[in-house]
Amino acid sequence: MALDLNDFSTDMTEKEAVCSSRKLRIGIIGTGGIANSHIKSYLKQRDAEVVAGADLIPGKAAQFFERHGVEARAFEDYREMIDTMDLDAVSVCTYNSTHKECTIYALEHGLPVLLEKPMTVTLDEAVEICRAEKKSGKIVSVGFQPRFDGNMQMIKKIVESGELGKVYYIQTGGGRRHGIPVSWSTTFIEEEKAGIGAVGDIGCYSLDLVLNALGYPKPLTVSGQMTDYFGKDPSSYAKVNKPECAEMFSVDDFASAYIRLEGDIVLDFRIAWYMHLDTPGDTIIMGTKGALRIPSTDCWNGTFHKPMTVYRDVAGLPSQIEVPLIPSDGELFDKKIRSFLDAVITGGKAPVPTCQILYNQAIIDGIMKSSKLGHEVQIEIPEI
Ligand SMILES: NC(=O)c1ccc[n+]([C@@H]2O[C@H](COP(=O)([O-])OP(=O)(O)OC[C@H]3O[C@@H](n4cnc5c(N)ncnc54)[C@H](O)[C@@H]3O)[C@@H](O)[C@H]2O)c1
Repeated sequence: MALDLNDFSTDMTEKEAVCSSRKLRIGIIGTGGIANSHIKSYLKQRDAEVVAGADLIPGKAAQFFERHGVEARAFEDYREMIDTMDLDAVSVCTYNSTHKECTIYALEHGLPVLLEKPMTVTLDEAVEICRAEKKSGKIVSVGFQPRFDGNMQMIKKIVESGELGKVYYIQTGGGRRHGIPVSWSTTFIEEEKAGIGAVGDIGCYSLDLVLNALGYPKPLTVSGQMTDYFGKDPSSYAKVNKPECAEMFSVDDFASAYIRLEGDIVLDFRIAWYMHLDTPGDTIIMGTKGALRIPSTDCWNGTFHKPMTVYRDVAGLPSQIEVPLIPSDGELFDKKIRSFLDAVITGGKAPVPTCQILYNQAIIDGIMKSSKLGHEVQIEIPEI
């Protein structure tokens, strides 16, 4: 199934690609939790160096570089960093609500961007990024490191091989029993910073798991619901001894949705940061010739713990084939950074392109709108 509407080219022309005979100069915007993973992976690359970082909290970027033993310039204003540092690319590691402004500023100043997930909070913001990307001719790659896992890639190969026939129904999602993410900061639970909760934090991964396998069919309608029963309850934070988080909690801790995709496919989705259940179910992809069961995980880091199973009739006999687990051949995060750098150096396509993730964001946006309105909504995705 081909992407049509928004499948604009994100190739940079060869002359715009960065000369590979020197180290790429990288800047990091937002030096909080996930920026640690970015800098560790950049430090492993021979052809890149982190030369600057910016965080709006005074002193935070300097402390970050000190902790990592890196000599780099620290800024409070990312615009000043971009204006003065002669960078080749940036990682945007800020909380969700500032993804758009930081990414667009970087693009407008000629810089390719590795943008953390979720792409944005709203569909409108994602559209603005895509338009700025198209105008700039620079790439934005969205930080879905599970894409680089061999098992995740196998799901796509199975679907594309035709083993399942025509796919007509998908169930996906997952979550944690007691796992509202407040151990390193309250960024994820505050509306003004995160904008969205479980649906944006881990829901975007579950959606990508199946939408990527199907070639990102366009979402058409969504009926969704988001709730916050546990986030607002102080006892939900007993494990981390932070009952005060209940007062700050202003996003969703659970979301569910029934989504219609182009090509007569239905996607049944649920995601939880907290629930009285071990799992809300495995991911299943049902087709006219076979079905695939992907055992549920905490769905955040792309690791698979149990083998997948293909169900098919063999000579008329209902049969099951276990797909062997593919062992990891390196850190997913390193692959995410490497693939981005390769695209910058060669002028290639974004490894995880916005023209796909726009549809992921459209679904999340549709769930938010439908939940507020209390009924199904049409998903309208403007031309980029
Ligand atoms: N890929 C992954 O595995 C993964 C894991 C965790 C978080 N994330 C994503 O990374 C992002 C950041 O999460 P985190 O846990 O690191 O949050 P965090 O709060 O620890 O860090 C974010 C930092 O960005 C800074 N910031 C925000 N707006 C800024 C701006 N305009 N200019 C400069 N600095 C700014 C904040 O001050 C903060 O220090 C989120 O979008 C989150 O979803 C991805």
